[in-house]
Amino acid sequence: MTVRDILKMGDARLLRMAQKVTDFDSDELHLLITDMLDTMRAANGAGLAAPQIGVDLQLVVFGSFERNPRYPDRPVVQPTVLINPTITPLSEAEESDWEGCLSVPGLRGMVPRWAHVRYTGFDQYGDAIDRTVDGFHARVVQHECDHLWGKLYPMRVRDFRQFGFTEVLFAEMAVNQDD
Ligand code: NI
Repeated sequence: MTVRDILKMGDARLLRMAQKVTDFDSDELHLLITDMLDTMRAANGAGLAAPQIGVDLQLVVFGSFERNPRYPDRPVVQPTVLINPTITPLSEAEESDWEGCLSVPGLRGMVPRWAHVRYTGFDQYGDAIDRTVDGFHARVVQHECDHLWGKLYPMRVRDFRQFGFTEVLFAEMAVNQDD
């Protein structure tokens, strides 16, 4: 198990357009994904993008088999490895909800996202993924893929009155505040 260091906001490597993966089902790719899953789970992340550990590739992992202690009220999203993704909104509808990010520790912000999206891409074996999702699943995939285009969620916040420290915003809630 290798838990990698997570880059924090301010690091220029989080602002790059990531490169496409060209080699699927390689030992190198499988090792990278194992490290990403270990790192995501160790931090109780809802997802993790390769640029967050300094790897300049279009690769994200998200989801789990159980509820996430950082987001205890959110539904379970199936574990997914998504490579070279595209995201297409299926309507004009947006939803706003609180987001955090392992690269922006200690903070949460209210972020608008497309409510219904189709996403495509490939898994680590090169098999195609094509899903239509909404709700928390749609939010997570948009957040993670944003990392591949050099975007962090604070860049999506529209009302900075709804952006602050987790321990202050949610002081009354018994949430896991280790980020
Ligand atoms: Ni993030």
